[in-house]
Amino acid sequence: MNQHDSIGRREFLTWSAAALTGATLSTIPFVPGNRVEAADMTGVAGRKRSLRLAHMTDMHVQPELSAGDGMAAALKHAQSMQDPPQLILTGGDMVMDLLGVDAARSKAQWDVWQKVLKQECSLPVKHCIGNHDVWGWNKKVSKTTGQESGWGKQQAIDHFGLSRRYYGFDQGGWRFLVLDSIFPSSSSVYAGRLDDEQFAWLQNELKNVPATTPVALVSHIPIVSVAVLEFTNPASNEIRLSAGMVHGDAQKIVRLLRKHPNVKLALSGHLHLTERIEYSGVTYLCGGAVCGGWWKGPHHGTPEGYLLVDLFDDGSVESRYVAYGWKARA
Ligand SMILES: [Fe+2]
Repeated sequence: MNQHDSIGRREFLTWSAAALTGATLSTIPFVPGNRVEAADMTGVAGRKRSLRLAHMTDMHVQPELSAGDGMAAALKHAQSMQDPPQLILTGGDMVMDLLGVDAARSKAQWDVWQKVLKQECSLPVKHCIGNHDVWGWNKKVSKTTGQESGWGKQQAIDHFGLSRRYYGFDQGGWRFLVLDSIFPSSSSVYAGRLDDEQFAWLQNELKNVPATTPVALVSHIPIVSVAVLEFTNPASNEIRLSAGMVHGDAQKIVRLLRKHPNVKLALSGHLHLTERIEYSGVTYLCGGAVCGGWWKGPHHGTPEGYLLVDLFDDGSVESRYVAYGWKARA
């Protein structure tokens, strides 16, 4: 399907005219039903860059495989650019795995991550919780009871310096809503979704943010994804995804976002793959992985890297995956 098929001809002409005359798109109000795909807005004259950020997701830091050196290399690479980012967004899975480890092993992983972050990062950082940042949920393997201090999401909340597991902040004229998409599941250790409390918060946030303020969502597990097809069973000829692969409540979230055309971007990690999807007025970006394939080389052809994202005052988004040159060490 052509990218313009979903836009009425009149709307398309309006946006095209704005492009030709160099009008500032931020002066054109967001009108429900007058949707335009984000890709159509890139390259429009008159817009101003609001913010450049580096989305550094899935670091999976551990004492082994020189993961700390890799994390340091990624941070140095981003900060030494000629036009460096002003913000680092981490997309979750900062440590190798906490779901199935004991207290000593979880501490060993956080120690490396904290040390490198303190030594190598001078930019503001905002964090998002990933499934592997949650301690002990696989009780049998982790040999935890659930009564330990910091069990579950608390360790991540503490290490990330969060006041709570989901939150909002403003930067560069954009509103960011950082979500917690990790919840227990009956069929798996975790599933991707929002709880009722958080969904009500999201509804309220979107209702209260001015309609002219562009909004970016950040979640570890993708809300919308095409790349998940990589993980289906080729023998079955059916698309069946495990509970933890993508948000199970995607339909509910997408329908909410449709009521708020100023939601322009949804960033995710988790898959260690890159994708850019324009769907129903929102750009869905999955940001690869700083660790590539868990520090053992590229994952399905996606190298160790991070996503460089430019946000503009008209709500448009440009993105580029940056491989920072890491070579896996045996
Ligand atoms: Fe991951």
